[in-house]
Amino acid sequence: MTVILIVDDEPLQRDILKTILDGEGYETVTSSSAEEALIRIKQCNPDVILTDLKMEGMDGIKLLESVTGETFKPAIIIMTAYGTISSAVDAIKKGAFDYLSKPLNKDVLILTIRRAAEHARLVKENQLLKKELYDKFRIDGIVGKSERMKELVEIMRKVSGNSVIVLINGESGTGKELVAKAIHYNSPRKTRPFIALNCAAIPENLFESELFGYEAGAFTGAVARKPGLFEAADGGTLFLDEVADLPLFMQAKLLRVIQEKEIRRLGSKESLTIDVRIITATNRDIEKEMQKGNFREDLYYRLRVVPIYLPPLRERKDDIPVLAEHFIEKYNREFGKRIQGLEPISVNALVNYPWPGNIRQLESVIERAVIMSDSAQITLDDIRGELRTAKIQHHLEVKIPDEGISFEELEKDLLRQAMTKANGVVAKAARLLGMSYKTFWYRWDQIDQ
Ligand SMILES: Nc1ncnc2c1ncn2[C@@H]1O[C@H](COP(=O)(O)OP(=O)(O)OP(=O)(O)O)[C@@H](O)[C@H]1O
Ligand SMILES: [Mg+2]
Repeated sequence: MTVILIVDDEPLQRDILKTILDGEGYETVTSSSAEEALIRIKQCNPDVILTDLKMEGMDGIKLLESVTGETFKPAIIIMTAYGTISSAVDAIKKGAFDYLSKPLNKDVLILTIRRAAEHARLVKENQLLKKELYDKFRIDGIVGKSERMKELVEIMRKVSGNSVIVLINGESGTGKELVAKAIHYNSPRKTRPFIALNCAAIPENLFESELFGYEAGAFTGAVARKPGLFEAADGGTLFLDEVADLPLFMQAKLLRVIQEKEIRRLGSKESLTIDVRIITATNRDIEKEMQKGNFREDLYYRLRVVPIYLPPLRERKDDIPVLAEHFIEKYNREFGKRIQGLEPISVNALVNYPWPGNIRQLESVIERAVIMSDSAQITLDDIRGELRTAKIQHHLEVKIPDEGISFEELEKDLLRQAMTKANGVVAKAARLLGMSYKTFWYRWDQIDQ
């Protein structure tokens, strides 16, 4: 329900306004002075404040300036006497929603209040959504109790306060994007956009137009002006994921943007000043790419002003139980389940597993266990199958090169590798490939060893 606070030092005027607005179905509260209003605001969180301009003591403009709204700023309408239009303009400049001239016209009053209430509703809704977003990416929402995670959280707090460039490095699934978002949503830029671009997913010839935008006619097919991601992220953060995959010519352009803080749309002669914080991430070893000549050294040093390294989960096993509990709670909520943690023996299994897919893999294992489990706690049985198939899936992560691959050769190679790793013990080699002894032996026998 919309709450309206009426502030006027004339009792009769207050009563009239109250009667009209009550009649329109609003909940009204009244104050006879701006000073009293400031106390009332804290008690009743009004959506709209309708205040007289001229009052004994603090006037309407002062009231307008004093209402900052810790969580939510109400829409304020100032009532001015005929002939004081300049104060009305002043009020609008200072952030009033609108003004009404006295004597009031009932229809205009009702209409203005309705617009203000709608405005307040939208602002509130928007703030609620933003709050949800901020809560989701609170730094303390980053789970972990290992020393390395604590250090990491400390660094994140430090870099959140300013706009320094951050380079996040870590294996797949270690939380690079989560960390980038947490830095953004805890920085003064949080109300501005966070825009992510996966550099590995963009065809080389589209990079420039994606990042810098273009003018109409810049190239065939450019029918209308389109702003690029740098412009879209103005005031906010641009997250360049998989930055090691940025082609060399784009690396030169990125370096220039960082130095000049200016961009130019394709087909434009004009430069635009932009204010964008850059956060980059990669799961590759950029120093190695640099030695191979795939990454510019000057850009690398610009990007790694503050390097953040996210260690793989197997190197911070202390975090596994707390992360698992965190995900159980998350999926309990999502699926309406009431699973109370893990059996001690299944905690062991999780801690001892190498987690090639890191936290993302742990999350999906727990998600499925929560869905499938029929017991009060997650049992070893609930996760054992998951860990086995996950392991097999990981080993199958073979990228097929452009020229193709010989499946037969690959199979031979895998069999040989397994045999070497198992020191010739067939049972062990078979287990490494998730095969039975018999199957392994049959295949091994077929190949030219
Ligand atoms: N410390 C953490 N606490 C809670 N959840 C986490 C944590 N780290 C990562 N996650 C969760 O794990 C999942 C993977 O994280 P994210 O996408 O940030 O990884 P990434 O390093 O960007 O992976 P990739 O390199 O594959 O893109 C996400 O669902 C994220 O919310
Ligand atoms: Mg990522």
